[in-house]
Amino acid sequence: MNHFLDIHTTDADALHRMIAQARRMKSARDGRPRGMPDDETPLAGRMVALIFEKPSTRTRVSFDVGVRQMGGETMVLSGNDMQLGHGETIADTARVLSRYVDMIMIRTFDEAVLTEMADYADVPVINGLTDRSHPCQIMADVMTYEEHRGPIAGKKVVWTGDGNNVCASFLHAAGQFGFDLTFTGPAQLDPDPEFIGFARSRGSTVTIERDPARAVAGADLVVADTWVSMHDAQSARERRHNLLRPYQVNDRLMAAARPDALFMHCLPAHREEEVTSAVMDGPSSVVFDEAENRLHAQKAIMRWCLDV
Ligand code: CP
Ligand code: NVA
Repeated sequence: MNHFLDIHTTDADALHRMIAQARRMKSARDGRPRGMPDDETPLAGRMVALIFEKPSTRTRVSFDVGVRQMGGETMVLSGNDMQLGHGETIADTARVLSRYVDMIMIRTFDEAVLTEMADYADVPVINGLTDRSHPCQIMADVMTYEEHRGPIAGKKVVWTGDGNNVCASFLHAAGQFGFDLTFTGPAQLDPDPEFIGFARSRGSTVTIERDPARAVAGADLVVADTWVSMHDAQSARERRHNLLRPYQVNDRLMAAARPDALFMHCLPAHREEEVTSAVMDGPSSVVFDEAENRLHAQKAIMRWCLDV
């Protein structure tokens, strides 16, 4: 039994195999109605609990559809409606759920909730985003880059804006998939040095460049995310916007990257804030492929978790 808690804590060969399997499963579905199960249904008879303590569109729908395509069933639970949100411990919740379901995906705030769930569950636990990381997203992003441009190893990825949870998983992926990452954003919002240290310890070059135009020179991939994440206080909104405005991804910034550079955003995007509509809807953008690939990548992650 495998938990999928983070990219840096999962074996790199296993990550590569998951991406390859996701691509095979995607092409095997080519042209089929979305609701039709796969030819192979490795999750037949399995029940998966999907717990959300924060809002979600992509994670909720892609996990739900992915389980059904593989022949399983899901139960979508809101943390607030569970006893978990009213004083029952994470450990007890994990022990109880393990008596009913075959796998647990959880989106939560504090990373400690995820790790405690994994410590006490007898079934695999998957990280569907915490305040610290978003590994499923970056598996889809690596898959998307490679579909369009071939191996991501050796490429230059530029993260613009807030050094947040999604940036953290990009840094973990830099170490595991062998690409370099340049962070461009204000010093107040730098990524945690621990994430940078992981990427460097695996031989990736991590650069911090405050000037966004200089940062994107030679970039193969430019990435943006919201300026205010779900775990950020709304009272910090104005301060963050003021700090982050110089890091907006627009046509001028994309023109400073390589001519074949791709643009990614995990979505939801705030158009005309961190990215302009011209870039989101322009020829470099692969944002909807990323969203689709959540489905395929997570199907491979779930198969790895259950070894099926
Ligand atoms: N990218 C992502 O995780 O989207 P949701 O918040 O809609 O799940
Ligand atoms: N950084 C964003 C990602 C949303 C998918 C957040 O945590 O809100």
